[in-house]
Amino acid sequence: MSPDKPDHQNPALPDFWEKRYREGTTPWNAGGVPRALQDFVDAWPGRSETPPRVLVPGCGHAWEARHLCQCGWDVLAIDFSPAAIDHARPLMGPFAARLMLADFFAFAPAQPFDLIYERAFLCALPRHLWAAYAARCAELLAPGGLLAGYFFLGSEPKGPPFAIEPAALDALLAPAFERIADEAVEDSLAVFQGRERWQVWRRRANCVAG
Ligand SMILES: C[S@@+](CC[C@H](N)C(=O)[O-])C[C@H]1O[C@@H](n2cnc3c(N)ncnc32)[C@H](O)[C@@H]1O
Repeated sequence: MSPDKPDHQNPALPDFWEKRYREGTTPWNAGGVPRALQDFVDAWPGRSETPPRVLVPGCGHAWEARHLCQCGWDVLAIDFSPAAIDHARPLMGPFAARLMLADFFAFAPAQPFDLIYERAFLCALPRHLWAAYAARCAELLAPGGLLAGYFFLGSEPKGPPFAIEPAALDALLAPAFERIADEAVEDSLAVFQGRERWQVWRRRANCVAG
């Protein structure tokens, strides 16, 4: 990113996203809970026992965070754009206390998570942040914890959304994670159509985070 560019043109910074939420330009907004996540929650083992502790990074409008709260899961949904949090708060309603204005790379959680839910977050990050994303996910998850969600695949250099080649995604995550699911997605929004995969990655017990 050129140092001459204003902050609102740099997707690594909150101002980029802030501007788009304030202007209502949010083509990533699903307006609901995507199918594969619903199926994943329904299939979660031991559903009636201790609820999993879940992080939703870059939660945006927080449709999925609300769904996970409604299912009784222990959710923390973060976003570094105040406008995103403003949109999410009324939607979260009684679960609004689970929202936090925070930077994924800098906040200090009280304890590790069992699950990180990914949707349109990795592809929102400029490529120079991808290695830090992988390391941070590994750091935030307990051993055996899951990184699950939607990954935007492709080779176009421009973004966001920044597409990742399948081999590059493997190279990024495989050192700390083992992929345990990889499925086609039928209900993508236009901006992601035909390019999303639902994947679940399990954090290796013996990985060195970061
Ligand atoms: C493309 S939007 C996706 C929002 C949401 N995940 C969804 O699917 O609707 C990317 C989001 O990530 C947030 N974001 C980007 N970098 C972040 C960071 N370092 N920490 C927290 N949030 C971040 C942006 O503010 C924005 O809300």
